[in-house]
Amino acid sequence: MDIITDFGSVVPGSSPGGSTMREIAKRYGTPLYVYDARVIRQRAQELKEHFKGAEFHYAMKANSNAAILAILKKEGFGVEAVSPGELERAMEVGFSKEKISFTCASLTEEELVFASKSAGRVHLDSLHQLEVWGKKKLGGEVSLRLNQGIGSGHHEHVITGGPGSKFGITLKDLPKAHEIAAQYNLRIAGLQQHIGSNVLDAGVFMKAVKTLLKTSEGFPDIRHIDFGGGFGVPYSPKEKRLNLKRLGAEWKKAVKGFGNGVTFAFEPGRYLVAEAGTLLVSVVDRKETSKHMFIGVNSGMNHLLRPALYGSYHPIKNLSRTGGVRKDITIAGNICESGDLLALNRKMALPAIGDILAIQNAGAYGMTMASRYNLRELPKEILVDGTKAKNVSTPG
Ligand code: LLP
Repeated sequence: MDIITDFGSVVPGSSPGGSTMREIAKRYGTPLYVYDARVIRQRAQELKEHFKGAEFHYAMKANSNAAILAILKKEGFGVEAVSPGELERAMEVGFSKEKISFTCASLTEEELVFASKSAGRVHLDSLHQLEVWGKKKLGGEVSLRLNQGIGSGHHEHVITGGPGSKFGITLKDLPKAHEIAAQYNLRIAGLQQHIGSNVLDAGVFMKAVKTLLKTSEGFPDIRHIDFGGGFGVPYSPKEKRLNLKRLGAEWKKAVKGFGNGVTFAFEPGRYLVAEAGTLLVSVVDRKETSKHMFIGVNSGMNHLLRPALYGSYHPIKNLSRTGGVRKDITIAGNICESGDLLALNRKMALPAIGDILAIQNAGAYGMTMASRYNLRELPKEILVDGTKAKNVSTPG
């Protein structure tokens, strides 16, 4: 690891300070993702503290960098994988089969067989997957992903409960699921749900928890219940942080005394890594139209797709200047699409060419959704741990 001498205001719970970031940008060049290991550990510890007794399977789709997986492995987390590629990455990092769970819609038979061999628990997403599992004799115990009609999330693309969602087995199909299980002599030992992503409403989350506990009463062989992920983080200043302590206390009350020997799990992704990640970009152009003051940067929707895909807000700080007259600024990427805007009419001091901008809360669904669109390079990834920084980019 390189030693970062000036680690300025690195404090747990926030990204590394501005001086550290500037030094990293200088050393490695922009655009690049910077991850703060201490924030990841802190979030992991919060979850363990407030949901004592639960297992955690980190939803690695949020950020599958091997260095981040290694941090969470050390924290005792397992992983939740959704593709053969993710399973392979998890195994490379050293997660044992028991520590890997798997959930995926629209799987081929080959993929389902591979998942059954690599993951300790596969949450079957459809009656068809259940049938294939039985026919191919992939194991005597199964777990089902349910769609109980309760959904929540920051955008309709990420709400995974309700009739509009492609995920899970709906409650009306449960009699049929029991039938198929009986036909192949399978015990339904697990139930899982995931209602959506970036849930900031603890009420909906708890409603889904309680409904799943109730539904599980119809499953005499139940041994494991997985409530999925979805724990939200605030992105815009208007959003309030989820009160994890209160949510944990409510969850504890709901599961107290529930079923002998039943184990519980969660699959958080974003909560662990979102606030630990910053995308550093450089200002390379400036243009004013009658509608916008555009500031052009050397990155874009190819590196951080969330603003273009969901209209997501990411806080942006100018690391090169603090003062100046504040204006409505639109941050434009370098991809050939008009929708490639990282921020729209954001009040900030007018950046100058060469300034470094820090796009924050970008650790989740940033690099994992990045592409080589327009044949541009992927950004590097740097892990900061205390005073040390290391290039942890995935080779290839
Ligand atoms: N479990 C399952 C089955 C999931 O499908 C997901 C996320 C998670 C757990 C983790 O959810 P989290 O704790 O991260 O909210 N690209 C979108 C998010 C898509 C989430 C897909 N599934 C975004 O950038 O907001």
